[in-house]
Amino acid sequence: ILDLDGASTHIKIQPTMYGIFFEDINFAADGGLYAELIKNRSFEFDEPLTGWKQPNTKTLSPNLDSGFLIIHTDASKTNKNYARITVLNDKNYLLENEGFRGIGIHQGEKYDFSFYLENVSGNIKEMKAELIDEKGQSIVAVSIPVSGKGWQKYAAVFSPKRTVEKAKLQITFVGNGVVNMDMISLFPQDTWKGRKGGLRKDLVQKLYDLKPGFLRFPGGCIVEGRTLAERYQWKKTIGKVEDRENLINKWNNGFAHRLTPDYWQSFGLGFFEYFQLSEDLGAEPLPILSCGMACQFNTAELVKMEDLDPYVQDALDLIEFANGDISTPWGKVRAEMGHPKPFNLKFIGIGNEQWGEDYIERYKVFEKAIHAKYPKITIVSGSGPSPDGEFFEYGWKELKKLNAQIVDEHYYNSPEWFLENATRYDKYDRKGPKVFAGEYAAQSVGVVKPENKNNWLTALSEAAFMTGLERNADVVTMTSYAPLLAHADGWQWTPDLIWFNNLSTYATPNYYVQKLFSNNKGTDLLKITENGKALTGQKKLYSSAVFDEKSKEIIIKIVNADIQPKEMNLNTKNLRFGDKMIKIILSADTLDTENSFTSEPIQPKENSESIKRGKISTEIPPKSVVILKINKL
Ligand code: AHR
Repeated sequence: ILDLDGASTHIKIQPTMYGIFFEDINFAADGGLYAELIKNRSFEFDEPLTGWKQPNTKTLSPNLDSGFLIIHTDASKTNKNYARITVLNDKNYLLENEGFRGIGIHQGEKYDFSFYLENVSGNIKEMKAELIDEKGQSIVAVSIPVSGKGWQKYAAVFSPKRTVEKAKLQITFVGNGVVNMDMISLFPQDTWKGRKGGLRKDLVQKLYDLKPGFLRFPGGCIVEGRTLAERYQWKKTIGKVEDRENLINKWNNGFAHRLTPDYWQSFGLGFFEYFQLSEDLGAEPLPILSCGMACQFNTAELVKMEDLDPYVQDALDLIEFANGDISTPWGKVRAEMGHPKPFNLKFIGIGNEQWGEDYIERYKVFEKAIHAKYPKITIVSGSGPSPDGEFFEYGWKELKKLNAQIVDEHYYNSPEWFLENATRYDKYDRKGPKVFAGEYAAQSVGVVKPENKNNWLTALSEAAFMTGLERNADVVTMTSYAPLLAHADGWQWTPDLIWFNNLSTYATPNYYVQKLFSNNKGTDLLKITENGKALTGQKKLYSSAVFDEKSKEIIIKIVNADIQPKEMNLNTKNLRFGDKMIKIILSADTLDTENSFTSEPIQPKENSESIKRGKISTEIPPKSVVILKINKL
């Protein structure tokens, strides 16, 4: 028997309560959300021919087989490399790109193929491009006449008649001679909102369906870099895509799963696109910037305090880029990129997952400078990687003293931990900084173990824990599961919220938990108790309740982590309600059930039940998450 009080608790559920944590890990950006299909399109990787092959070239120059490619550089450019191709026998020379674990091609769609070429010797007449399947069979081909002098941009459209998950691009020439080539690119035309060179539509749709309150970007450890030189620098990710300097990805050869020695960042998805995506999703942008500390799990390189200024300036300039009007230098850059209206940035994060005195010292400088110029911007600070360790305690103590506004906490832990910690925030200081539960996920095997699964146990335990986040909405104002995306053939970290391959995507049970909470977050917290106490695991039951001002619904979330069904009877106070309720159930037969590309056995099922004689009572199935929605009269 639960007691639900309809009287206001005066605690608002923040619109930012459930958001998205985006990081380019697991091929989430290049090879994922960013719809470019050619890997290493401008030959900038450390090994400039990564992703490229010349199957008929046996040796490099001098060579009598077919032709060869040599990397040349143009020091005046940010992306310095280009390919000089010498075709000796045009019947034979072949240049091939493997894509990101193959190139996904959908029948009936159109693909924009483009490249820059300089006809150096003047005797190459034509370039042919073909998509081939894994057996080497042609899928579709185009011929592009080559003419004129100097660098020129060429374009063609592929209209494949077959769907292939792991195609390759093959390039051949007509005529023997020398050409230079750069930015060889292939994009589906059917991107999110049809933007040229845009984002993968099916993946953005999944994010959109979450109705996220915020979008945190670009990470994660990627913000910090293994070294300071490899940190994420937003200014290098805006402007023309071909001028965005490529950088090795911090997750190249990631430690959990060594399948990705070819992981770079093209920054085609850069800060402008992140802001634009936030706008599309209706989510508050939450950019996170380097605080002058490289990843403390790698080199832990530190910028000296006297050299911190450029880092702080990056933060100030970013706020101007997002919010400044077009008469400001950075506002003008934004306008020139096609967004004269400000992005209305409200939050900025300083450092990702940093800890210790070094962090606090640097945070202070950022805080002072940002709030001196932009007092209305809310700053998110970090508390390090462990939820309860020594550094975490230290960070919180210091940040409290400094009146920090929002503190980011990260915890990856066992399902048991999540089930046992639904009361975590009950004891937090109501007058201290707010909490951003910025990265969390239940790990079925152990933290960063490649065997981790997105099974029902992990999702159920997260749901139980999330009732605790919601019950503490006066302290917890932002939350996000992490990581968000993972390519089935190119990941470094598991579990992840959404899995995809080159053609399709599936939602994990954890995704549906996030979606149910976010889509039913309501606006005002209500009090739901059993014998005067919040339900935080008694008889393996967990609960939270909210009212939604807009829909006038009372929304109750109940998690039953037991293997027995439970009969729930609700006593209500200060409430008048209709005679129907919507009941959404998320459940699975076994705790190790998972969703996959071929089937999603775990998805919400919705039905309607009638409320008889004003008595709300219903069964909560075993191992289930139940959402009840009742109209308030
Ligand atoms: O989400 C994966 C990683 O976990 C993030 O990059 C980092 O912040 C945390 O350690």
